[in-house]
Amino acid sequence: MEYFTKSSEETIALGKKIGEVLKPIDVIGFYGELGSGKTTMIKGIAIGLGVNEENLVKSPSFIMINEYKGRYPIYHIDLYRIKNTEEILSIGLDDYLYGDGVCLIEWAEKAEGDLPENLIKVELEVVKPEERKITISGLSL
Ligand SMILES: Nc1ncnc2c1ncn2[C@@H]1O[C@H](COP(=O)(O)OP(=O)(O)OP(=O)(O)O)[C@@H](O)[C@H]1O
Ligand SMILES: [Mg+2]
Repeated sequence: MEYFTKSSEETIALGKKIGEVLKPIDVIGFYGELGSGKTTMIKGIAIGLGVNEENLVKSPSFIMINEYKGRYPIYHIDLYRIKNTEEILSIGLDDYLYGDGVCLIEWAEKAEGDLPENLIKVELEVVKPEERKITISGLSL
C-alpha cells in the first residue's frame, strides 16, 4: 500500500492507524534516508498502541533500544550506529524479535537476514521538504 503524507502530523496519524492493528508478535522494519520520518512514524505507532505521548523520547541514543509500555511492550530499536553482525548479536536483538512485544526497527537493512520472515516493511521517501511517500508491505490497514 502506498500513502502520501504532507506533514509530520499526517505521518503520525498514519502511524497511529498501524499501531491500532499491531499484534505483540509483529516486527516492523523502517527503511529510508536520514530525516525521512522513521522516528516520526514510530511516535504515531506508539500512540496507536496506547503509549502516553509524554513518555516518548525522540530517538534511542547510545543504547539503541528504548522500551515503551503500551498495550504490549514496544521495543524501539535504532540500528544506525550498528557496524556488523557481532554488534547485532551483542545487543541481544533476537530476544526482542522473538519476545513478548512489538519491535519497531529503524535502519532495518543493517540487520537484513537476522529479521523474521514475516517482517512488516515501511519504506519512507522524501518527495518534497514536507511530503513523504510511505510504502507499507506485509500489513493490511
Ligand atoms: N510528511 C512528513 N512526514 C514525516 N516527517 C516530516 C514530514 N514533513 C516534514 N517532516 C520532518 O522531517 C523530519 C523527520 O525526522 P525523523 O527523525 O522522523 O526522521 P528519521 O527517518 O527517523 O531520521 P534518522 O535516520 O536520523 O533517524 C522531522 O523534522 C519532521 O518534522
Ligand atoms: Mg530516527
